[in-house]
Amino acid sequence: MNMQNDLAGCRVMISAGASGIGLAIAKAFVAEGANVHICDVSDKALSAAKADLPTVGICKADVSVVTEVDAWFEHALSELGGLDVLINNAGIAGPTAGVADVSVDDWDRTMAVNVRGQFLCIRRAIPALQASNRAAIISLSSVAGRLGYPLRTPYAASKWAVVGMVQSLAIELGEQDITVNAILPGIVESERVKEVVTAKARVRGITEDEMRKEVLEHVALHRMVPMQDIAATALFLASRAGRSVTGQCMNICAGVQTLR
Ligand SMILES: NC(=O)c1ccc[n+]([C@@H]2O[C@H](COP(=O)([O-])OP(=O)(O)OC[C@H]3O[C@@H](n4cnc5c(N)ncnc54)[C@H](O)[C@@H]3O)[C@@H](O)[C@H]2O)c1
Repeated sequence: MNMQNDLAGCRVMISAGASGIGLAIAKAFVAEGANVHICDVSDKALSAAKADLPTVGICKADVSVVTEVDAWFEHALSELGGLDVLINNAGIAGPTAGVADVSVDDWDRTMAVNVRGQFLCIRRAIPALQASNRAAIISLSSVAGRLGYPLRTPYAASKWAVVGMVQSLAIELGEQDITVNAILPGIVESERVKEVVTAKARVRGITEDEMRKEVLEHVALHRMVPMQDIAATALFLASRAGRSVTGQCMNICAGVQTLR
């Protein structure tokens, strides 16, 4: 996508940017000439990302831990010299199980990464975003943030919470010209989805092929979403063309009607 150099020099922080969708978003911003800083909990993924994208700043941080998020912001804000765009990408799948079998630890961990983690990053980003004239917060929710998702209750609850945060903050921060939007990906071609299909097939007692077919049966386009389509939406929301978009849920999902 060519944003006519609109994003050149734009200062961007991406949580969990070392692999998966976060890395695809980092690559897209780097290709547009943006200055990008990522955090991730995995040293191995960070080293691989740095080798792939040498200009990107990296920091090891778990978004659910206050001191680690604070350290990432200190490091990134000083390297970038400010902040224009925060991308709250970190999120874990959580357990796949009937709710009575979900452990309290698994529930808490899903909420800690997917909800508390976004809160911890947003609260640190706001003072820096107030000094920007193109400030945007982009939070990854999911189609599980607008639909019920059997056997994935903690994940669905966490992603609905992200939508609640985004819609509230869009109003709260609107006066300061900070846009706040959510991207709700559908079923993205990724390692994580492969693992979820495997886990759900096991719980349901069916084969992985049967599970995959069932998963795509209620998708209008009958296919998964390439990561690049999620990245393109993030570019749009961060660009001048996206300046009038706030409080929105961008469903980049190939038309998911229901989740199984
Ligand atoms: N993959 C999908 O199909 C899909 C669909 C809808 C929504 N999403 C959302 O998109 C986002 C990215 O998903 P993905 O599939 O690329 O993720 P992923 O599982 O591939 O993980 C990406 C990165 O997150 C890092 N990470 C995990 N926990 C972390 C933590 N506590 N702090 C910092 N980094 C951490 C991992 O080390 C990894 O490098 C998530 O919020 C996810 O819920 C994904």
